[in-house]
Amino acid sequence: MYDRFERKIEYLRISVTDRCNLRCEYCMPPEGISLLGHSDILTYDEIRDFTRVAVSHGVSKVRITGGEPLVRKGIVKLVEMLAGVHGINDLSMTTNAVLLSDFAHDLKNAGLKRVNISLDTVDSEKFREITRGGDLRDVIRGISAAREAGLDPIKINCVIQHTRNETDAIEVARFCMSEDLEIRYIRRMDLVRGYFSVVEGGSGGDCSACNRLRLTANGKLKPCLFNSIGFDIRELGYEKALHMAVDGKPECGSHNTTGTFYNIGG
Ligand code: 5AD
Ligand code: SF4
Repeated sequence: MYDRFERKIEYLRISVTDRCNLRCEYCMPPEGISLLGHSDILTYDEIRDFTRVAVSHGVSKVRITGGEPLVRKGIVKLVEMLAGVHGINDLSMTTNAVLLSDFAHDLKNAGLKRVNISLDTVDSEKFREITRGGDLRDVIRGISAAREAGLDPIKINCVIQHTRNETDAIEVARFCMSEDLEIRYIRRMDLVRGYFSVVEGGSGGDCSACNRLRLTANGKLKPCLFNSIGFDIRELGYEKALHMAVDGKPECGSHNTTGTFYNIGG
């Protein structure tokens, strides 16, 4: 599929839940979150069936995101279902890794290829502050488990305030070097105000090269993170929602007043 600006759309990011076991200050709104009801959330069958349609139109790369995908019950089953969709050649997950030591092995066996792990600091006190209560040791264990399971490559997403020369970013980079992990720097963004930028070392944030669509946990297909538009796959049907999202993909992001990171998956 090509959009109106000749961009080849081949990457689908699927948010499977708006829930998370952490509360990162830049992701979750301070006033707390309104969780989606059970019936709003797409079932695994719906996700698989929509993905099949997207893949039949040229999507070949799929990422499972959240919220935190590992908190959704039966996530290994979804991985298995998606791994069974013929035509996906890159199936990955973005996770905070808190639960990864429990899941890495099963995820790999189910057909997950690789993981991106969010890690903004290797200082346990700071980690607790940023995530509002998280335990850094869980993440470190999760990273080891991912490596042992053969999830490869493991990429670290490091959110920075301004530059990669900040103390935390430097220490995360050092950690990645010693652990042989790839690092990507993501400038802290603000969807509503429209502050976004390219991901250093990654592919996000460059509008002219953007090849992605996002499916939210409640079934809205969004062509752009920095835009409020979304197409309801249940209301419109999968084919129609797909075509409307591709045709409606804006040339460049502006701002988004309907979403926050925890429900559109970053
Ligand atoms: N700015 C930049 N990145 C963010 N993420 C969440 N909120 C923000 C934000 N405001 C990132 C996390 C994680 C991914 C799911 O989204 O770091 O890697
Ligand atoms: Fe959870 Fe990730 Fe958001 Fe942190 S950034 S609160 S780990 S979804």
